[in-house]
Amino acid sequence: MKTDRPVAIITGVSRGIGRAIALYLSQTGYDIAGISRTIDTPETAEQTAELESSIRSNGTEFVPFRLDISETGSHQEIIESIFGRFGRIDMLVNNAGVAPLKRLDVTETTTESYDRVMSINLRGPLFFTQKVVRKMLDMEGKISDFKPLIIFITSVSAVLSSTNRIEYCISKAGLSMACQVFAHRLAKTGIRVYELRPGIIRTDMTTPVKSMYDRMIEEGLIPQDRWGYPEDIARAVVAISNGYFDYSTGGIFEVSGGMNIRRL
Ligand SMILES: NC(=O)c1ccc[n+]([C@@H]2O[C@H](COP(=O)([O-])OP(=O)(O)OC[C@H]3O[C@@H](n4cnc5c(N)ncnc54)[C@H](OP(=O)(O)O)[C@@H]3O)[C@@H](O)[C@H]2O)c1
Repeated sequence: MKTDRPVAIITGVSRGIGRAIALYLSQTGYDIAGISRTIDTPETAEQTAELESSIRSNGTEFVPFRLDISETGSHQEIIESIFGRFGRIDMLVNNAGVAPLKRLDVTETTTESYDRVMSINLRGPLFFTQKVVRKMLDMEGKISDFKPLIIFITSVSAVLSSTNRIEYCISKAGLSMACQVFAHRLAKTGIRVYELRPGIIRTDMTTPVKSMYDRMIEEGLIPQDRWGYPEDIARAVVAISNGYFDYSTGGIFEVSGGMNIRRL
């Protein structure tokens, strides 16, 4: 075996929520195989080196893998490269995702935007997970401390309607069901599967709509009365990764400051 530490694949590791998850998991002893579309290019080399050095300072390894998750034909090669480098895959965090390039009313949504969002947020992660699962099933029984798990980062948009981004809402609702189906299929194996549903999180994704959300939060959108931060999601991933939710496969954990509470 190339590492005796557990190994987590995190998609969308370069920024925001994925980056925070990588840092937090490395603090708990995970080596990180970090995927993003643009990681480790000349333009992002500095940012990648900085992430790698923070993870190394936690005493674990970080290796970047460049992949556009919507390119399903490249999935197997990347998974084999990760396995070849580390010799094991203990966790997959399906985090990479995009918002529509333009928020358009449902009467104006374009097929191009629908196809783009669905291929990155749903089709890509579904087939990537399928291939990682096959690898995990192969590994079962071969590594003594192997407790594989898969986490899907969806969104409150899986269940909350936004009339100006139907493609995003549908992609997250679909991903939520994908999580249920994988959890169902794998329940009799050792692989546990969970959904984490973030609320409104302060990252590059929400920068273009920051002032709108600032106003909505001021007007009472979020019971806990503040933006969420990437660290809020990372801490939830760590809580799941410690194994205490072993009897909760298919569990949906909302991290949204109480947006799940139906209010009068
Ligand atoms: N921010 C929120 O309020 C919020 C709320 C609910 C759910 N979420 C979900 O949380 C996840 C992370 O969001 P975030 O806010 O951290 O977004 P972000 O800051 O925009 O980061 C997105 C990450 O996904 C990667 N990515 C985008 N397209 C990709 C592709 N085709 N292939 C591979 N990687 C790709 C990006 O990589 P590059 O840097 O290489 O482009 C980046 O690392 C997403 O699934 C999002 O839908 C976010």
